[in-house]
Amino acid sequence: MENSVAVVILAAGKGSRMGGKGAKVLVETAEGPLIAPVLRTACSLHPARVTVVVGFEREAVERRVRAWWEENPSRTSGELRFAVQEEQRGTGDAVQAAIPSLEGFVGEVVILCGDAPLISEKSLTRLLETHRQEQATASVLTAILPEPGSYGRILRDPTTGQIQAIREAKDASPLEFLCHEINSGVYVVDSAFLPGALQHLRADNAQSEYYLTDIFQRATEEGQGVASAFAERAEEVCGVNTFADLHLIERYQRLSRCEHLAATGVRFTDSSSVYIHHTAEIAEGVSLGPNTVIGENVVLHHGVTVEGLCHISNSTVGANTTIKWGVKISGAEIGEAAAVGPFAHLREKTSLGDEVKVGNFVEVKKSSLAAGSKASHLSYLGDAVVEKEVNIGAGTITCNYDGENKFTTTIKEGAFIGSNSALVAPVTIGEGAVVGAGSTISKDVAPNALALTRAPQKELPNWRTRKRR
Ligand code: UD1
Ligand code: CA
Repeated sequence: MENSVAVVILAAGKGSRMGGKGAKVLVETAEGPLIAPVLRTACSLHPARVTVVVGFEREAVERRVRAWWEENPSRTSGELRFAVQEEQRGTGDAVQAAIPSLEGFVGEVVILCGDAPLISEKSLTRLLETHRQEQATASVLTAILPEPGSYGRILRDPTTGQIQAIREAKDASPLEFLCHEINSGVYVVDSAFLPGALQHLRADNAQSEYYLTDIFQRATEEGQGVASAFAERAEEVCGVNTFADLHLIERYQRLSRCEHLAATGVRFTDSSSVYIHHTAEIAEGVSLGPNTVIGENVVLHHGVTVEGLCHISNSTVGANTTIKWGVKISGAEIGEAAAVGPFAHLREKTSLGDEVKVGNFVEVKKSSLAAGSKASHLSYLGDAVVEKEVNIGAGTITCNYDGENKFTTTIKEGAFIGSNSALVAPVTIGEGAVVGAGSTISKDVAPNALALTRAPQKELPNWRTRKRR
């Protein structure tokens, strides 16, 4: 598509039906702030300019939009501008505020709402293509809804089917109110027509606002071409005005993300209970079980299995690794063909090599376990450097903290730590050394030695029988 498009995104409104705390378009969702998908869709048209109309909480909105723009250099296109709408006097007034930012631009102006994040690239492209094919002056994206609610109604000439006007629900006659074709709030308008049409808007309606939608009646009256296209899916038009709307759009976003991933070869056992942050990268051949959160900055490589009831954030999991039931992972790097859990906790700066096994009720923090090492049951490994092929027995604790400072435990290649051992850091267990079960080790152990601090076992023969007597 050639570069004759400018986009205007309306984001000055207060969102008074959502508590009014902070700007509505900045509400965080799994897809980032509410406005992020709108920016993404806008950029898919490769516009020459994108103007965001700000008003309520304008500094915060500007800051967040600029940050998004900088974080997504591969997605963004054209020049980002801001226009300020001092007072929220309606959508027509909001577009009016953007007119100075369009100076010198000739072409099609695409108008989007910052609070309608589900509009797809397909729908937008379809609208633009229809606008061009029908050589229209103004075009609108519509949908047929079984419950049209508070959306603007598309009023057509009953014989020709031509759009005559868009009527807000609050201004509709009882008959108009029954209309099921609604206005999505997405438009394409020729730059030559727009400013003049806005000049003629009047706020003589139920909300005393300047309605952008009134430009359609004007276009029709002037004999200008008016066109429309249906959204790819009717649900896309959902705008967020209430928390109930937000709930609907988040469910839609979650399901469409899972649908998209499933199409690329990701297996879900219950996608309705899986939450995936937009920054997560999930490879083909990954399998995700129920009740799972894949949070920010997670990379799951090919063949990873996440059994379920897991929470993973800021972590990378190598190919063919299994994350078993009930695992919490944050800030970890995990190698290939490893196994974690069930019920393990990997905390910040954990690094597990290939084929490492971390079993149930093991907590790991700021520690590395090199390839093939195992900590299968009930352990705490903090500030530990564990080399290759080490076996850490059940109940082993690295005592890394003396109440003031943290110290490192080093366990060299092939060492064997017996069950229920306390390793008091700083301490090093030499290569191939063995620590006897139940030991408290506070001095370095030489390579291949056996270290044991266990008190010798005493046995008093027939002690119980004598006591009874
Ligand atoms: C608008 C449409 C309605 C359509 C619906 C789709 C009008 C008059 N009505 O209604 O036909 O069905 O969207 O979602 O256009 N905004 C500003 N400044 C303002 C007012 C609004 O920037 O002064 C922004 C809002 O932040 C929001 C967008 O414009 O992003 C839509 O405004 P909103 O008040 O939600 O319009 P609706 O009543 O939903
Ligand atoms: Ca709205």
